[in-house]
Amino acid sequence: SLPKNATIIEVGPRDGLQNEGKLVQTEDKLQFISALQKAGFQEMELTSFVSPKWVPQMADSKDIVAGTEKMGRQFVLTPNERGINAALESGAQSLAVFVGVSNTFNQKNINKTTQESMAALKPLVLDLKKQNVFVRACISTAFYCPFEGAISPEATIDLCREFVDWGIDELSVADTIGMASPKESYDLFTKLINEFPEVLMTAHFHDTRRMALANIVSALQAGVTRFDTSAGGLGGCPFAPGATGNVATEDVVNMLHRMDIQTGIDIDLLCTAIEKIEPYVTNPVTTGMYTLYKNR
Ligand code: HMG
Ligand code: MG
Repeated sequence: SLPKNATIIEVGPRDGLQNEGKLVQTEDKLQFISALQKAGFQEMELTSFVSPKWVPQMADSKDIVAGTEKMGRQFVLTPNERGINAALESGAQSLAVFVGVSNTFNQKNINKTTQESMAALKPLVLDLKKQNVFVRACISTAFYCPFEGAISPEATIDLCREFVDWGIDELSVADTIGMASPKESYDLFTKLINEFPEVLMTAHFHDTRRMALANIVSALQAGVTRFDTSAGGLGGCPFAPGATGNVATEDVVNMLHRMDIQTGIDIDLLCTAIEKIEPYVTNPVTTGMYTLYKNR
């Protein structure tokens, strides 16, 4: 049976913008974030404390955290000790670490093998948990890798188990290149929820092959009630060739509401937030609900 409520984690300011070629001004990002807050998001990824050489768009992470009104749970991504320290100094209270199941992808994304990443992250995450910081782990290439192809569910589950053993609060399990099918989504999330009932389980779908809405329905059927989505369907990982945007928040929220699953998000206010960022991104936003909003 389907849940009565679902939680949407808006990742537009981070995943949505990180791959944007044109540098968006900090003030314009802050206007976008503030408009998203008005639409009702209680959880959001704001930015990343990563190397500005690797991801120039996220170079203003400190100013983004400082300029954002505290509201609900606000994540920042951190790849290493330097990022974690900078994030905590900036006032961030919820952190996201990220690792790929695929070694090749992890090398391209973080310049370490998956094992090297996990060895480096372990003491850092244990320390954060001692300090009672909320930590989520983003698991990239959980279904498919652009370099290695299909990833076995066992490999994804094993990596998740390490994080769960460290006391992680949430797993965000990602279809980085939008290749999973609804059957694969159902099967993996059924296994994950069965294995790890003690953590928050979140599904992160990119919509490269337009299967993301179907994957969300099948994840719901598997028991997932938390979804990472991006306003306007913006986004993609710069180190995953062929990856396009995240599933669009407005289309997910509309679908969930039509299924009598409440999210607390106001779609019109969400569309006004998209209107604020659209002039600064390369591609026009053509999602279902945003198109209807503009033609109203
Ligand atoms: P590296 O080159 O191996 O690291 O990069 P390094 O230690 O040699 O440092 C290189 C330079 O970066 C140095 O500067 C460091 O000081 C600096 P230089 O001395 O040359 O001037 N540096 C930093 N600067 C700011 N903040 C830091 C930091 N660390 C080092 N934290 C590194 C390793 C991890 C830094 C790099 O690979 C990196 O930044 N990668 C980030 C990649 C990224 O952001 N990817 C996108 C997010 S993940 C994603 O989108 C997937 C997800 O959405 C789920 C899904 O869909 O799959 C979450
Ligand atoms: Mg992503």
